[in-house]
Amino acid sequence: MANYPELQDRVALITGAAQGIGAETARLFAAQGCRVAVVDIDAENGSKVAAAITQAGGTAQAFRTDITDVTSVEQCIDSVVQALGGIDIVINCAGGYGRLATVEDMSIDEWDRTVALNLRSVFLICKMAIPQLKKSKAGRIINVSSISGRTVHAASSPAYGAAKAGVTQLTRFLAFQLGPDNITANAIAPITTLTPRVAALRSEADIERIASQVPLRRLAVPEDHAQAMLFLASDAAAYINGVILDVNGGRVMM
Ligand SMILES: NC(=O)c1ccc[n+]([C@@H]2O[C@H](COP(=O)([O-])OP(=O)(O)OC[C@H]3O[C@@H](n4cnc5c(N)ncnc54)[C@H](O)[C@@H]3O)[C@@H](O)[C@H]2O)c1
Repeated sequence: MANYPELQDRVALITGAAQGIGAETARLFAAQGCRVAVVDIDAENGSKVAAAITQAGGTAQAFRTDITDVTSVEQCIDSVVQALGGIDIVINCAGGYGRLATVEDMSIDEWDRTVALNLRSVFLICKMAIPQLKKSKAGRIINVSSISGRTVHAASSPAYGAAKAGVTQLTRFLAFQLGPDNITANAIAPITTLTPRVAALRSEADIERIASQVPLRRLAVPEDHAQAMLFLASDAAAYINGVILDVNGGRVMM
């Protein structure tokens, strides 16, 4: 298990932390001594994640937030700062899409909702957290993109892929503009990951087929991504800035 003592007491705001990759990331950061803001629209599961972390001896609090909504994000940042004293690390993990789609069969509403969830949200959270990150001695932004934003593979959504590609370029702008404030901005690009949600949706045959296309011959698990983000948040990654880290078993090069 990685050990980064410098993360002790740093405040990590993690969106989408009520389940999946975000929840695992919240647990891992809390285990390193971070004080974690579990930010999610799902108040019930967000509270459960925060309670489990607290029960395990960590510090976490849930903040119900719609990350696509300006007022909700403003309130979230204010509440996190009031409750935890500031923000050192922002992890934009919430995202996703409803169904596989083509440009032709996608409604304008579906496009707008998908782009809002995956890209507008990252802009809103970063914009409103930047004044807090500037006060940190080692500010970090870590965005969760996707292999779908890096390359075109069959099973995805064009709105999702385009939004995730937008996330990678927004990450580079953040890295460029915030570097002088000693804030780094990086992203990870996951592949299909065996979260409880994905495991429930995919058949055994599906999982085997996807795994066979990955050089490492397995799907990712949430901890693969959480460990990569922990490294990016640590002092060991202090000079890594504007990078898109492919946490996809080598699939992106195929
Ligand atoms: N799981 C995968 O296979 C995979 C692959 C590549 C990239 N990713 C990316 O990784 C990230 C996490 O994926 P996951 O599979 O763990 O997600 P998930 O669907 O399991 O969880 C997403 C979380 O985001 C929350 N959320 C949704 N809309 C929200 C809103 N408007 N405001 C606040 N919270 C909201 C949900 O309540 C949920 O808790 C996403 O950005 C996703 O695009 C996932």
